[in-house]
Amino acid sequence: MRAGMRSLIPLYLLADLALATTSAKRGLCYVSTDHEADDNIWDNSTSDLTWYYNYGASPEAEYDGTDLEFVPMLWGAPSNPTTDMTFYNTVKGLIEGGQNITYVLGFNEPDGCTSGGSCVDAETAAQVWKTQMEPLKKAYGVKLGAPAVTGATTGFTWLQNFFTQCAALSSNGTSCEVDFIPVHWYGDFQGLASHLGQVNGTYQNISAMWVTEYAYPDGSLEDSQDFYNTSAEYFDRLSYITRYSYFGAFRSSVSNVGANAAMLDQNGKLTDIGSWYLGGSATGNVPKASSAGTVAKTAGWSAFVFAVAMWSYL
Ligand SMILES: *[C@@H]1O[C@H](CO)[C@@H](O)[C@H](O)[C@H]1NC(C)=O
Ligand SMILES: *[C@@H]1O[C@H](CO)[C@@H](O)[C@H](O)[C@H]1NC(C)=O
Ligand SMILES: *[C@@H]1O[C@H](CO)[C@@H](O)[C@H](O)[C@H]1NC(C)=O
Ligand SMILES: *[C@@H]1O[C@H](CO)[C@@H](O)[C@H](O)[C@H]1NC(C)=O
Ligand SMILES: *[C@@H]1O[C@H](CO)[C@@H](O)[C@H](O)[C@H]1NC(C)=O
Ligand SMILES: *[C@@H]1O[C@H](CO)[C@@H](O)[C@H](O)[C@H]1NC(C)=O
Repeated sequence: MRAGMRSLIPLYLLADLALATTSAKRGLCYVSTDHEADDNIWDNSTSDLTWYYNYGASPEAEYDGTDLEFVPMLWGAPSNPTTDMTFYNTVKGLIEGGQNITYVLGFNEPDGCTSGGSCVDAETAAQVWKTQMEPLKKAYGVKLGAPAVTGATTGFTWLQNFFTQCAALSSNGTSCEVDFIPVHWYGDFQGLASHLGQVNGTYQNISAMWVTEYAYPDGSLEDSQDFYNTSAEYFDRLSYITRYSYFGAFRSSVSNVGANAAMLDQNGKLTDIGSWYLGGSATGNVPKASSAGTVAKTAGWSAFVFAVAMWSYL
């Protein structure tokens, strides 16, 4: 740019540019709800979202043929960890059927047992890794996301035990192959930044991180929006964060992280946070915990979200 050219751009435009945040790193943490129409919001052609996961091995039919790249997850351990190949075979089928599978995610909150994590011990996890995850990398070059432990200190202990078990299981002492580390965080921004720094410092041999669940739970609307803005800007700036997905695809009336953190209001309209996340501008839709006149909460859905997420805040 020629010297002095900057001054030709009106100041109000510069301010707009500074505020607009769009990012190809953003994805969707998909949870099925009883509001199927909501599913179409996320693959809106103007949406920034490029990928999604749904805690399972198989994609959502409604996103077939869209721009949203599916990332399968091996949620927990099968009851026969050394012979059950269901996850491997499912992903193999997708790849051989022509689906672009570049990444897979390992165990969801394996260090969580009482509040709904997948509760897998490190030794079993290491066995399953060698049986079903590493063969995907070997056969198809799929990149592997480490087990996504909770943000609690038990998470660090579990992950280190996992790598130790991996080395113990192998004939030559090499650890499990991992290409990136997924991180979960429920709390404030300072805690998030410090947690990411700690993961980065501990695993210097694994250079990429994804933040696959995060939110500031149960805060005021202003604090929730401030957290959202600050963290999105931080993730976009940090080169070691290669992808992130805000928790999650649900209405404020069924949110178990508090109404103000939600991306959809009680009527299924994008909140400010939801619209910013998709690369749009504020909607002014204020999220509420319940919908007027109707009972939007469904027990099955709440239990599921509780199962996948609640443990993270402990
Ligand atoms: C498959 O997905 C990866 C990751 O998003 C992307 O880099 C690659 O270009 C895609 N390949 C095809 C053939 O679409
Ligand atoms: C250790 O063994 C694995 C197979 O079990 C092999 O893929 C790897 O290359 C070996 N590493 C070294 C350093 O020999
Ligand atoms: C990466 O570093 C961790 C922590 O030092 C270690 O436990 C693990 O075995 C290493 N992984 C590989 C593949 O070397
Ligand atoms: C992440 O860790 C690497 C290796 O220790 C270090 O060079 C880098 O500065 C760290 N990045 C941040 C943002 O802390
Ligand atoms: C968040 O960012 C948007 C622009 O992306 C801005 O309009 C809004 O005022 C910010 N809110 C807070 C609380 O920082
Ligand atoms: C798509 O998203 C943009 C930005 O959030 C929004 O303005 C637009 O109304 C959406 N379109 C549909 C069809 O939902």
